[in-house]
Amino acid sequence: MTDLLDGGERLGREELAALQLERLRSTLRHAYAHVDFHRRAFDAAGVHPDDCRSLADLARFPFTTKADLRDHYPFGMFAVDRSRIRRVHASSGTTGLPTVVGYTEGDLDVWADVVARSLRAAGARPGDRVHVAYGYGLFTGGLGAHYGAERLGCTVIPASGGMTARQVRLIQDFEPEIIMVTPSYMLTLLDEFERQGVDPRSTSLKVGVFGAEPWTEAMRAEIEERFAIDAVDIYGLSEVMGPGVAQECVETKDGLHVWEDHFYPEVVDPITGEVLPDGERGELVFTSLTKEAMPVIRYRTRDLTRLLPGTARPAFRRMEKVTGRSDDMVILRGVNLFPTQIEEIVLRTPAVAPHFQLRLTREGRLDALTVRAEARADATPEDRAEAARAIGRAVKDGIGVSVAVEVVDPETLERSVGKIKRIVDLREK
Ligand code: DLL
Repeated sequence: MTDLLDGGERLGREELAALQLERLRSTLRHAYAHVDFHRRAFDAAGVHPDDCRSLADLARFPFTTKADLRDHYPFGMFAVDRSRIRRVHASSGTTGLPTVVGYTEGDLDVWADVVARSLRAAGARPGDRVHVAYGYGLFTGGLGAHYGAERLGCTVIPASGGMTARQVRLIQDFEPEIIMVTPSYMLTLLDEFERQGVDPRSTSLKVGVFGAEPWTEAMRAEIEERFAIDAVDIYGLSEVMGPGVAQECVETKDGLHVWEDHFYPEVVDPITGEVLPDGERGELVFTSLTKEAMPVIRYRTRDLTRLLPGTARPAFRRMEKVTGRSDDMVILRGVNLFPTQIEEIVLRTPAVAPHFQLRLTREGRLDALTVRAEARADATPEDRAEAARAIGRAVKDGIGVSVAVEVVDPETLERSVGKIKRIVDLREK
């Protein structure tokens, strides 16, 4: 195994810290010199790039938010001449303008390297066939996965998202070892395998590299069992790079190693912004260490997790599986609830399929939540009624709030073709 590691993965923790500091200082200087937004923000906070003498000094620098990126739509955060931008991506965002990100040739090169490293950690090897069912286009998933798999020396099958029947055909005919797709779309593929009468456990697939949305250990168990594969987690976001910011190793499946030689993580208190010690849960914040086109300084991801020591890649800290984003948190009569908590419960309820949706409504002055879960094809009316009671009870006991539960007919909830939208908000604004 160790002979497969790249230079960055072989660094000791101290060597890594020295490299991080050098790269951090140069990133701060680059951002200050070339992006008006950062210069003004540093000046307003009374800090200068030269004030960063240790990694801990980063805490003195101001945060960047998604709103800051939107305010500088489309290219206002770019730090290099337009002629050096080789590609742009954009993330759709649920409201208003998309966030646009840009890459130089050097950035695309680093991105391919970190995705190749991620795939290797997932268990992929040169010569493997990689079926990429992340969407191609402005979304970073498809093209990010694509060039990383090529960089590792794999054969890429650029399926993109959608045309589900054809995906199943391609998997049977082209015999990929690896699939890269959102976990929710993997479940859509599962339905299609069953519809076509093909045993999903009989394919050539060995590993699934799943990300772009939160998913739970219960979902991992479901997918691994139904497809007879290893399921590992890949994390990333467009603003920081795309997929390949952090990756779970197949041999440990214990959270995601952050590729800290390129992306410096902090976890902060989401309310006060104070940096929290490793091990404490909060909001993940990233500073890019090598990006040229669009350096990001202390970017607030809104993803909630904690940092843990490295294991399979000892120099790199791990981030715990993301349990949710602050945006997806529902506050119900004072109780915080994340869709992943419902996922855990739905997946351990025998008579329902792993498909569910959360409907938010307002009753009088209070918000109400209805969990809609789909019955399995063989569930009797009694099974369904018992499942509804069991889900309601588990939510009440485990999360501490009452919700309504509807167990709906098989194949009635909308299926995912990419990132799934769990919450349907029917409250009047
Ligand atoms: O989703 C990049 C990506 C593509 C990652 C393919 C992995 C695989 P965005 O569209 O900018 O980029 O969305 C980023 O998605 O802030 C998280 O909230 C969520 N997310 C991404 N990966 C994971 C994951 C891509 N493994 C946002 N677990 C992030 C939980 C994830 N959430």
